[in-house]
Amino acid sequence: MRRAVLLGLAMFTLAAPQILTATCHAADSINPQADFKAFRKYFTERFTNVPLNDFVNGPYSMDAGLRKQWLEIDAFPPYQFALDKGKEMFNTPFKNGKTYGDCFPNKGIGVRQDYPYFDTKSGEVITLDVALNQCREANGEKPFDYSKDDMAALTAYMAYTSRGKRFDIKIPDDPRALAAYEKGEEYFYTRRGQLNFSCASCHVQNPGGHLRTEVLAPALGIVAAMPIYRSEWGGMGTISRRFTSCNSQVRATPLKPEDELYRDVEYYLSYMSNGLPISGPGARP
Ligand code: HEC
Repeated sequence: MRRAVLLGLAMFTLAAPQILTATCHAADSINPQADFKAFRKYFTERFTNVPLNDFVNGPYSMDAGLRKQWLEIDAFPPYQFALDKGKEMFNTPFKNGKTYGDCFPNKGIGVRQDYPYFDTKSGEVITLDVALNQCREANGEKPFDYSKDDMAALTAYMAYTSRGKRFDIKIPDDPRALAAYEKGEEYFYTRRGQLNFSCASCHVQNPGGHLRTEVLAPALGIVAAMPIYRSEWGGMGTISRRFTSCNSQVRATPLKPEDELYRDVEYYLSYMSNGLPISGPGARP
């Protein structure tokens, strides 16, 4: 129950990194259900005025002023263009006549909440983005760049058809699945970069805090709104784009988009969000 201990300590400020690091390396067993419980408890007890389903709105769940701005822009959402494009792409057959829908359960409609999943054949975590490129390649098409543009448009549409559906991430009874979960968890809590921050330093210890003009999103529900339109990017970005940007922010070298470790992190974070609704695509300042 290493994570439970860690979360108990998370109210310490960033000025006490040694406590976090020491706890991080304590050896013990992997217990996703116990982690889940402690994680949920930590966020709901710390933010008693945030309704559980609202955590999926990232920074807006933490800041009333920001939320007001968001509700205003959401009348004309900046992701609309990508959403329309994604829908058209999704419904356009490949050169061989097959479609994206043919690669997915329920023809790919309303399935976002089941990703990522652990693929017992390949022994790896498969995210929605990776599944989309596998689908393209299986049908003789070139894979898309994972960070933005076409991939963001496709995942925007698939998220949209799943809005309100609840994360349902499974960890099959397979030691490799548990190992992937644990690697993801460990990556999330490990400090890195010149600034020596872990993902958790910002998204577990400081949600609602400010980083320059930005309000930090809570780790609970943190991938539910992906992909997002961000004014700072001047366009859409996928989960990969967000992960690599967050690594760069602490001057750490980002991994390759959809690197196995990033997929493990997404697996961990999505499992922690089980039961929370998909809210993507999102818009951020
Ligand atoms: C130095 C602080 C910092 C660290 C460390 C950090 N992030 Fe972030 N992260 C941000 C900021 C700032 C944003 C944009 C505002 C927001 O949504 O929180 C963000 C946004 C996100 C979002 C999108 C949330 C949303 O609703 O828009 C995800 C997902 C995310 N980070 C994941 C990660 C992961 C995974 C790591 C570790 C690899 C990480 N972050 C490390 C600061 C950080």
